[in-house]
Amino acid sequence: MKILLLNGPNLKLLGTREPSIYGTETLDQIVGAAVRYAAAKGVQVDAVQSDVEGEIVQAVGAARGAYAGIIINPAAYTHTSVAIRDAIAACGLPTVEVHLSNTHRREAFRHVSLTAPVCVGQIMGFGGAGYRLAVDALLNVANAKNG
Ligand code: DQA
Repeated sequence: MKILLLNGPNLKLLGTREPSIYGTETLDQIVGAAVRYAAAKGVQVDAVQSDVEGEIVQAVGAARGAYAGIIINPAAYTHTSVAIRDAIAACGLPTVEVHLSNTHRREAFRHVSLTAPVCVGQIMGFGGAGYRLAVDALLNVANAKNG
């Protein structure tokens, strides 16, 4: 089984970006932990980070046929991007939305996710561990489908 892990804008700054909100782990550390966690369960995770909305749309579109599911942290695009929402809906792959922070405890504009309604579910507020929880969530979806 293969999973595509997509990270949106400004997430490559993790480690130094607003550490009181996002912690001190770098994106490489978070992604590396998720890749190793998945590998131990026989799952391959391919990770992509982009600050560019269109590149994320293209990556979601290309995932169909190549991956069993998607884990995505659309970052700020969560709250603005109809294009990423439509790409997730169109690709038809089970998708889990992850946020490091609990966006509901933050500014009102972060309380709305345009992408969550087309995802299987959302995991937020657990920092980098959320990506590992998302691997389990997708495995659960795949097992329910196959079993
Ligand atoms: C975020 C939450 C978003 O509101 C914000 O724009 C981010 C990161 C998170 O992981 O907590 O860039 O997606």
